[in-house]
Amino acid sequence: QVERSLVLVKPDGYRRGLTGEVLSRIEAKGYRLAALSVVEATPEQLAAHYAEHEGKPFYEPLVEFMSSGPLVAAVIEGHGCITGFRTIAGTTDPTTAAPGSIRGDLARDWGLTVQQNIVHGSDSPESAAREIAIWFPNGL
Ligand code: CMP
Repeated sequence: QVERSLVLVKPDGYRRGLTGEVLSRIEAKGYRLAALSVVEATPEQLAAHYAEHEGKPFYEPLVEFMSSGPLVAAVIEGHGCITGFRTIAGTTDPTTAAPGSIRGDLARDWGLTVQQNIVHGSDSPESAAREIAIWFPNGL
């Protein structure tokens, strides 16, 4: 059925002027933009969004990175868009992400303790519902 996914253009992508490129790939793939917003993440939003990573070695650097500037939150819509977006995003590690993917084409290792990999996409319908509520608290 029609799915929704929460996509973030992380601060590295926003700072590097890659928001348009990311949104363009989403639209070119055929997914619809259902909501779009430029925001500075609050500590509460990041704690909720990354709750599953709390305690991991990259958690603190991750929260610091995600607070380092504006990011773009989007809700995308379309059949299979959760898996579909993760496929066009490429794997987490930008060094080995496939060429042709967002991370494979546009991201690299900068030698930092946190991977700066341009985008986030929900990994399941449950995560999508949870994450959409975090970034679009007033509804769509
Ligand atoms: P994302 O999958 O959006 O959410 C968790 C983020 O943490 C991930 O993107 C990367 O930015 C970062 N991350 C995940 N695993 C590692 C790791 N092993 N080392 C550094 N950063 C990581």
